Amino acid sequence: MTTDTALAPALDFSRIPHPAPVPGASREQAIADPGFGKVFTDHMVTVEWSDGRGWHGATLGPRAPLTLDPAAAVLHYAQEIFEGMKAYRLADGTMALFRPDANARRFNDSARRMAMPEIPEDAFVEAVRRLALADRDWFPSVDGGSLYMRPFMFASEAFLGVRPAKQYKFLVICSPAGNYFKSGVPAVSIWVSGDYTRAAPGGTGAAKCGGNYAASLVPQAEAIARGHDQVVFLDAAEHRWVEELGGMNVFFVFDDGRIVTPPLTGTILPGITRDSLITLAREEGLAVSEERYSIDQWRGDAESGRLVECFACGTAAVVTPIGRVASEHGEFTIGSGGPGQLTSSLRAKLVAIQRGTAEDRHGWVKRLD
Ligand SMILES: Cc1ncc(COP(=O)(O)O)c(C=O)c1O
Repeated sequence: MTTDTALAPALDFSRIPHPAPVPGASREQAIADPGFGKVFTDHMVTVEWSDGRGWHGATLGPRAPLTLDPAAAVLHYAQEIFEGMKAYRLADGTMALFRPDANARRFNDSARRMAMPEIPEDAFVEAVRRLALADRDWFPSVDGGSLYMRPFMFASEAFLGVRPAKQYKFLVICSPAGNYFKSGVPAVSIWVSGDYTRAAPGGTGAAKCGGNYAASLVPQAEAIARGHDQVVFLDAAEHRWVEELGGMNVFFVFDDGRIVTPPLTGTILPGITRDSLITLAREEGLAVSEERYSIDQWRGDAESGRLVECFACGTAAVVTPIGRVASEHGEFTIGSGGPGQLTSSLRAKLVAIQRGTAEDRHGWVKRLD
Protein backbone atom coordinates (compact mmCIF):
# COMPACT_ATOMS: atom_id res chain seq x y z
CA MET A 1 0.00 0.00 0.00
CA THR A 2 1.38 3.43 -0.90
CA THR A 3 1.67 5.88 1.94
CA ASP A 4 2.99 9.39 2.12
CA THR A 5 3.73 11.06 5.38
CA ALA A 6 6.06 13.64 3.88
CA LEU A 7 3.53 16.46 3.91
CA ALA A 8 5.98 19.18 4.88
CA PRO A 9 4.46 22.45 6.10
CA ALA A 10 5.19 25.55 4.04
CA LEU A 11 3.94 27.81 6.83
CA ASP A 12 4.70 27.92 10.52
CA PHE A 13 1.56 26.89 12.36
CA SER A 14 1.09 28.09 15.91
CA ARG A 15 -1.20 26.19 18.24
CA ILE A 16 -3.58 27.92 20.63
CA PRO A 17 -4.71 25.41 23.24
CA HIS A 18 -8.48 25.04 23.64
CA PRO A 19 -9.50 26.32 27.10
CA ALA A 20 -12.69 24.27 27.23
CA PRO A 21 -13.12 21.49 24.64
CA VAL A 22 -16.52 19.78 24.51
CA PRO A 23 -16.59 17.17 27.31
CA GLY A 24 -16.22 13.55 26.21
CA ALA A 25 -19.76 12.48 27.05
CA SER A 26 -21.34 15.39 25.09
CA ARG A 27 -18.99 14.74 22.19
CA GLU A 28 -19.92 11.07 22.07
CA GLN A 29 -23.58 12.00 22.06
CA ALA A 30 -23.05 14.51 19.24
CA ILE A 31 -21.24 12.01 17.02
CA ALA A 32 -23.49 9.01 17.70
CA ASP A 33 -25.67 9.96 14.71
CA PRO A 34 -24.04 13.08 13.26
CA GLY A 35 -25.87 13.28 9.91
CA PHE A 36 -24.18 15.80 7.61
CA GLY A 37 -22.93 19.33 8.31
CA LYS A 38 -24.62 19.86 11.65
CA VAL A 39 -21.98 18.90 14.21
CA PHE A 40 -18.66 20.75 14.43
CA THR A 41 -15.45 19.89 16.22
CA ASP A 42 -13.45 21.84 18.82
CA HIS A 43 -10.83 23.39 16.55
CA MET A 44 -10.28 25.29 13.34
CA VAL A 45 -7.34 26.48 11.27
CA THR A 46 -6.99 30.14 10.30
CA VAL A 47 -4.41 31.63 7.93
CA GLU A 48 -4.31 35.27 6.85
CA TRP A 49 -3.25 36.78 3.53
CA SER A 50 -2.61 40.43 2.83
CA ASP A 51 -1.22 42.27 -0.13
CA GLY A 52 2.50 42.77 0.38
CA ARG A 53 2.80 40.25 3.22
CA GLY A 54 1.36 37.16 1.62
CA TRP A 55 0.30 34.19 3.78
CA HIS A 56 0.98 34.51 7.49
CA GLY A 57 -0.45 33.90 10.94
CA ALA A 58 -1.26 30.20 10.44
CA THR A 59 -3.00 29.06 13.61
CA LEU A 60 -4.68 25.92 14.84
CA GLY A 61 -6.92 27.04 17.66
CA PRO A 62 -10.37 26.80 19.23
CA ARG A 63 -13.29 26.97 16.82
CA ALA A 64 -14.98 30.32 17.37
CA PRO A 65 -17.20 32.86 15.58
CA LEU A 66 -15.43 35.30 13.27
CA THR A 67 -15.43 39.05 13.61
CA LEU A 68 -16.05 40.62 10.24
CA ASP A 69 -16.32 44.24 9.18
CA PRO A 70 -19.73 44.84 7.56
CA ALA A 71 -17.85 46.19 4.53
CA ALA A 72 -15.87 42.93 4.12
CA ALA A 73 -15.69 42.39 0.37
CA VAL A 74 -17.04 38.83 0.53
CA LEU A 75 -20.38 40.11 1.82
CA HIS A 76 -20.79 42.31 -1.24
CA TYR A 77 -18.98 40.79 -4.21
CA ALA A 78 -18.81 37.14 -3.14
CA GLN A 79 -15.11 36.39 -3.44
CA GLU A 80 -15.39 33.03 -1.71
CA ILE A 81 -14.17 29.55 -2.59
CA PHE A 82 -14.18 26.23 -0.76
CA GLU A 83 -13.32 22.55 -0.92
CA GLY A 84 -15.02 19.45 0.43
CA MET A 85 -13.00 16.42 1.44
CA LYS A 86 -13.08 13.65 4.01
CA ALA A 87 -10.66 12.27 6.57
CA TYR A 88 -11.22 8.51 6.79
CA ARG A 89 -10.17 5.96 9.33
CA LEU A 90 -8.44 3.10 7.57
CA ALA A 91 -9.05 -0.53 8.44
CA ASP A 92 -5.87 -0.49 10.59
CA GLY A 93 -7.10 2.55 12.57
CA THR A 94 -4.86 5.17 10.89
CA MET A 95 -6.44 8.44 9.82
CA ALA A 96 -6.06 9.28 6.13
CA LEU A 97 -7.08 11.77 3.48
CA PHE A 98 -8.02 10.80 -0.07
CA ARG A 99 -6.14 12.73 -2.79
CA PRO A 100 -5.80 15.95 -0.74
CA ASP A 101 -3.28 17.24 -3.28
CA ALA A 102 -6.07 17.17 -5.88
CA ASN A 103 -8.29 19.26 -3.59
CA ALA A 104 -5.39 21.70 -3.08
CA ARG A 105 -4.88 22.02 -6.83
CA ARG A 106 -8.58 22.55 -7.48
CA PHE A 107 -8.72 25.11 -4.68
CA ASN A 108 -5.99 27.11 -6.38
CA ASP A 109 -7.72 26.77 -9.75
CA SER A 110 -10.83 28.24 -8.09
CA ALA A 111 -8.70 30.97 -6.48
CA ARG A 112 -7.29 32.06 -9.84
CA ARG A 113 -10.75 32.25 -11.41
CA MET A 114 -12.03 34.38 -8.54
CA ALA A 115 -8.99 36.73 -8.53
CA MET A 116 -7.90 35.42 -5.13
CA PRO A 117 -4.40 34.48 -3.94
CA GLU A 118 -3.25 30.88 -4.32
CA ILE A 119 -2.12 29.04 -1.21
CA PRO A 120 0.88 26.68 -1.44
CA GLU A 121 -0.48 23.17 -1.94
CA ASP A 122 1.54 21.75 0.93
CA ALA A 123 0.23 24.45 3.29
CA PHE A 124 -3.34 23.59 2.27
CA VAL A 125 -2.79 19.89 2.93
CA GLU A 126 -0.91 20.55 6.17
CA ALA A 127 -3.76 22.73 7.46
CA VAL A 128 -6.28 19.96 6.79
CA ARG A 129 -3.97 17.33 8.28
CA ARG A 130 -3.39 19.28 11.50
CA LEU A 131 -7.07 19.87 12.06
CA ALA A 132 -8.05 16.25 11.37
CA LEU A 133 -5.45 15.05 13.85
CA ALA A 134 -6.36 17.66 16.50
CA ASP A 135 -10.01 16.59 16.33
CA ARG A 136 -9.50 12.87 15.76
CA ASP A 137 -11.54 12.10 18.89
CA TRP A 138 -14.53 13.47 16.99
CA PHE A 139 -14.31 10.68 14.44
CA PRO A 140 -17.76 9.07 14.38
CA SER A 141 -17.56 5.34 14.89
CA VAL A 142 -20.77 4.77 12.88
CA ASP A 143 -20.34 2.55 9.84
CA GLY A 144 -19.20 4.70 6.92
CA GLY A 145 -18.44 7.65 9.19
CA SER A 146 -15.82 10.28 8.36
CA LEU A 147 -14.61 13.73 9.32
CA TYR A 148 -15.83 16.07 6.60
CA MET A 149 -13.16 18.74 6.15
CA ARG A 150 -14.15 22.14 4.80
CA PRO A 151 -11.27 24.40 3.73
CA PHE A 152 -12.46 27.79 2.47
CA MET A 153 -11.20 31.28 1.71
CA PHE A 154 -12.94 34.63 1.56
CA ALA A 155 -12.17 38.31 0.97
CA SER A 156 -12.02 40.02 4.37
CA GLU A 157 -10.88 43.49 3.32
CA ALA A 158 -13.27 46.29 4.33
CA PHE A 159 -13.65 48.04 0.98
CA LEU A 160 -16.63 48.64 -1.27
CA GLY A 161 -14.81 49.24 -4.56
CA VAL A 162 -15.25 46.49 -7.12
CA ARG A 163 -11.76 45.01 -7.48
CA PRO A 164 -9.92 41.99 -6.08
CA ALA A 165 -9.63 42.43 -2.30
CA LYS A 166 -6.27 42.96 -0.66
CA GLN A 167 -6.96 40.82 2.42
CA TYR A 168 -8.22 37.23 2.70
CA LYS A 169 -8.75 34.59 5.33
CA PHE A 170 -8.24 30.88 4.71
CA LEU A 171 -9.92 28.60 7.23
CA VAL A 172 -10.50 24.90 7.72
CA ILE A 173 -13.37 23.61 9.82
CA CYS A 174 -14.30 20.01 10.47
CA SER A 175 -17.66 18.29 10.75
CA PRO A 176 -18.18 14.65 11.77
CA ALA A 177 -20.37 12.96 9.15
CA GLY A 178 -22.37 9.75 9.24
CA ASN A 179 -22.92 7.36 6.36
CA TYR A 180 -24.59 9.33 3.58
CA PHE A 181 -27.08 6.52 3.10
CA LYS A 182 -28.28 4.81 6.25
CA SER A 183 -28.95 1.52 4.56
CA GLY A 184 -27.82 0.45 1.10
CA VAL A 185 -27.40 2.88 -1.76
CA PRO A 186 -30.81 3.74 -3.18
CA ALA A 187 -31.26 4.91 -6.76
CA VAL A 188 -32.26 8.56 -6.94
CA SER A 189 -34.75 10.32 -9.13
CA ILE A 190 -33.54 13.49 -10.83
CA TRP A 191 -35.21 16.50 -12.37
CA VAL A 192 -33.85 18.10 -15.56
CA SER A 193 -34.04 21.83 -15.05
CA GLY A 194 -35.78 23.47 -17.99
CA ASP A 195 -35.63 27.06 -16.80
CA TYR A 196 -32.29 27.29 -15.06
CA THR A 197 -28.68 26.65 -15.99
CA ARG A 198 -25.77 26.26 -13.60
CA ALA A 199 -22.90 27.71 -15.59
CA ALA A 200 -22.25 29.40 -18.91
CA PRO A 201 -19.11 29.21 -21.08
CA GLY A 202 -16.64 31.71 -19.67
CA GLY A 203 -18.40 31.73 -16.29
CA THR A 204 -17.42 30.16 -12.99
CA GLY A 205 -18.80 26.63 -13.41
CA ALA A 206 -15.40 24.94 -13.01
CA ALA A 207 -14.66 26.87 -9.80
CA LYS A 208 -15.89 25.77 -6.40
CA CYS A 209 -17.21 29.18 -5.43
CA GLY A 210 -20.15 29.80 -3.13
CA GLY A 211 -22.10 31.71 -5.78
CA ASN A 212 -22.50 28.60 -7.94
CA TYR A 213 -24.30 26.90 -5.07
CA ALA A 214 -26.49 29.92 -4.30
CA ALA A 215 -27.62 29.82 -7.92
CA SER A 216 -28.44 26.11 -7.70
CA LEU A 217 -30.81 26.42 -4.72
CA VAL A 218 -33.95 27.48 -6.62
CA PRO A 219 -33.65 24.72 -9.27
CA GLN A 220 -32.83 22.18 -6.52
CA ALA A 221 -35.90 23.30 -4.57
CA GLU A 222 -37.93 22.93 -7.77
CA ALA A 223 -36.68 19.33 -8.12
CA ILE A 224 -37.72 18.56 -4.55
CA ALA A 225 -41.10 20.25 -4.97
CA ARG A 226 -41.75 18.01 -7.99
CA GLY A 227 -40.94 14.93 -5.96
CA HIS A 228 -37.35 14.29 -7.11
CA ASP A 229 -34.10 14.04 -5.18
CA GLN A 230 -31.69 16.14 -7.21
CA VAL A 231 -31.54 18.55 -10.11
CA VAL A 232 -29.46 17.96 -13.26
CA PHE A 233 -28.42 20.90 -15.42
CA LEU A 234 -28.15 21.21 -19.18
CA ASP A 235 -25.66 23.51 -20.93
CA ALA A 236 -26.45 27.21 -21.05
CA ALA A 237 -25.86 27.77 -24.78
CA GLU A 238 -28.04 25.09 -26.42
CA HIS A 239 -29.98 23.75 -23.46
CA ARG A 240 -29.29 20.33 -24.76
CA TRP A 241 -26.08 18.80 -23.36
CA VAL A 242 -26.16 17.13 -19.97
CA GLU A 243 -23.67 18.81 -17.64
CA GLU A 244 -23.88 17.75 -13.97
CA LEU A 245 -26.06 17.67 -10.88
CA GLY A 246 -26.09 20.48 -8.30
CA GLY A 247 -23.23 18.81 -6.41
CA MET A 248 -22.22 15.70 -8.35
CA ASN A 249 -20.83 14.66 -11.74
CA VAL A 250 -22.71 12.20 -13.93
CA PHE A 251 -21.81 8.99 -15.82
CA PHE A 252 -23.69 6.90 -18.41
CA VAL A 253 -23.07 3.15 -18.86
CA PHE A 254 -24.05 1.39 -22.10
CA ASP A 255 -24.95 -2.21 -22.92
CA ASP A 256 -21.63 -2.70 -24.75
CA GLY A 257 -19.74 -1.78 -21.55
CA ARG A 258 -18.83 1.70 -22.77
CA ILE A 259 -18.95 4.56 -20.25
CA VAL A 260 -19.53 8.21 -21.10
CA THR A 261 -19.20 11.29 -18.92
CA PRO A 262 -19.48 14.95 -19.94
CA PRO A 263 -16.14 16.58 -20.79
CA LEU A 264 -14.45 19.23 -18.63
CA THR A 265 -15.08 22.20 -20.86
CA GLY A 266 -15.11 24.81 -18.11
CA THR A 267 -18.77 24.69 -17.16
CA ILE A 268 -18.70 21.68 -14.83
CA LEU A 269 -16.73 21.02 -11.66
CA PRO A 270 -13.76 18.68 -12.25
CA GLY A 271 -14.75 16.15 -9.58
CA ILE A 272 -12.02 14.18 -7.85
CA THR A 273 -14.40 11.22 -7.55
CA ARG A 274 -15.10 11.55 -11.29
CA ASP A 275 -11.39 11.45 -12.07
CA SER A 276 -10.80 8.50 -9.72
CA LEU A 277 -13.65 6.48 -11.25
CA ILE A 278 -12.42 7.15 -14.79
CA THR A 279 -9.01 5.82 -13.74
CA LEU A 280 -10.44 2.71 -12.03
CA ALA A 281 -12.80 1.92 -14.92
CA ARG A 282 -10.01 2.24 -17.50
CA GLU A 283 -7.80 -0.01 -15.40
CA GLU A 284 -10.49 -2.64 -15.70
CA GLY A 285 -10.25 -2.34 -19.45
CA LEU A 286 -13.49 -0.41 -19.83
CA ALA A 287 -13.71 2.28 -22.49
CA VAL A 288 -14.49 5.62 -20.84
CA SER A 289 -15.03 8.61 -23.08
CA GLU A 290 -15.44 12.20 -22.04
CA GLU A 291 -17.93 13.40 -24.60
CA ARG A 292 -21.04 15.48 -24.87
CA TYR A 293 -24.28 13.59 -24.34
CA SER A 294 -27.62 15.22 -25.00
CA ILE A 295 -30.89 14.98 -23.12
CA ASP A 296 -32.48 13.50 -26.27
CA GLN A 297 -29.81 10.81 -26.48
CA TRP A 298 -30.33 10.13 -22.79
CA ARG A 299 -34.04 9.54 -23.22
CA GLY A 300 -33.66 7.60 -26.48
CA ASP A 301 -30.91 5.34 -25.16
CA ALA A 302 -32.80 4.68 -21.92
CA GLU A 303 -35.94 3.80 -23.85
CA SER A 304 -34.14 1.55 -26.34
CA GLY A 305 -32.30 -0.24 -23.52
CA ARG A 306 -28.87 0.75 -24.92
CA LEU A 307 -28.25 2.78 -21.76
CA VAL A 308 -28.20 0.28 -18.92
CA GLU A 309 -26.94 2.30 -15.95
CA CYS A 310 -26.45 5.85 -14.91
CA PHE A 311 -24.85 7.26 -11.78
CA ALA A 312 -23.81 10.47 -10.09
CA CYS A 313 -20.61 10.82 -8.05
CA GLY A 314 -18.98 13.12 -5.53
CA THR A 315 -17.15 13.13 -2.21
CA ALA A 316 -20.28 13.17 -0.03
CA ALA A 317 -22.11 10.12 -1.41
CA VAL A 318 -19.25 8.59 -3.48
CA VAL A 319 -21.47 6.96 -6.15
CA THR A 320 -25.24 7.30 -6.35
CA PRO A 321 -27.28 5.33 -8.92
CA ILE A 322 -29.76 7.37 -10.95
CA GLY A 323 -32.94 5.40 -11.51
CA ARG A 324 -35.42 7.88 -12.91
CA VAL A 325 -35.12 11.09 -14.93
CA ALA A 326 -37.94 13.59 -15.33
CA SER A 327 -38.42 16.87 -17.15
CA GLU A 328 -41.28 19.02 -18.41
CA HIS A 329 -41.39 16.65 -21.40
CA GLY A 330 -42.01 13.49 -19.39
CA GLU A 331 -40.14 10.85 -17.53
CA PHE A 332 -37.96 7.82 -18.23
CA THR A 333 -36.41 5.00 -16.25
CA ILE A 334 -32.84 3.73 -16.57
CA GLY A 335 -32.39 -0.02 -16.63
CA SER A 336 -34.45 -1.60 -13.88
CA GLY A 337 -34.66 1.74 -12.04
CA GLY A 338 -32.41 0.37 -9.30
CA PRO A 339 -28.65 0.29 -8.71
CA GLY A 340 -26.79 -1.25 -11.65
CA GLN A 341 -24.00 -3.80 -11.51
CA LEU A 342 -21.14 -1.65 -12.75
CA THR A 343 -22.28 1.27 -10.60
CA SER A 344 -22.17 -0.95 -7.52
CA SER A 345 -18.81 -2.52 -8.35
CA LEU A 346 -17.10 0.80 -9.13
CA ARG A 347 -18.47 2.21 -5.90
CA ALA A 348 -17.20 -0.77 -3.91
CA LYS A 349 -13.73 -0.52 -5.50
CA LEU A 350 -13.35 3.16 -4.69
CA VAL A 351 -14.69 2.82 -1.15
CA ALA A 352 -12.28 -0.08 -0.52
CA ILE A 353 -9.31 2.07 -1.57
CA GLN A 354 -10.54 4.99 0.54
CA ARG A 355 -10.94 2.72 3.57
CA GLY A 356 -7.62 0.98 3.08
CA THR A 357 -9.04 -2.47 2.38
CA ALA A 358 -7.87 -2.57 -1.25
CA GLU A 359 -4.47 -1.85 -2.73
CA ASP A 360 -3.85 1.86 -3.37
CA ARG A 361 -1.92 1.59 -6.61
CA HIS A 362 -2.01 5.31 -7.34
CA GLY A 363 -0.85 6.68 -3.99
CA TRP A 364 -4.22 8.34 -3.48
CA VAL A 365 -4.43 7.61 0.24
CA LYS A 366 -2.34 9.93 2.43
CA ARG A 367 -1.89 8.62 5.94
CA LEU A 368 -1.94 11.38 8.52
CA ASP A 369 0.11 9.86 11.31
C1 LIG B 1 -21.01 20.97 -8.56
C2 LIG B 1 -20.25 19.77 -8.14
N1 LIG B 1 -19.95 18.85 -9.07
C3 LIG B 1 -19.25 17.75 -8.76
C4 LIG B 1 -18.82 17.52 -7.46
C5 LIG B 1 -18.02 16.28 -7.15
O1 LIG B 1 -16.70 16.62 -6.86
P1 LIG B 1 -15.80 15.70 -5.94
O2 LIG B 1 -15.85 14.35 -6.53
O3 LIG B 1 -14.44 16.31 -6.01
O4 LIG B 1 -16.39 15.75 -4.58
C6 LIG B 1 -19.12 18.43 -6.46
C7 LIG B 1 -18.70 18.19 -5.07
O5 LIG B 1 -17.74 18.75 -4.65
C8 LIG B 1 -19.85 19.60 -6.80
O6 LIG B 1 -20.15 20.50 -5.87
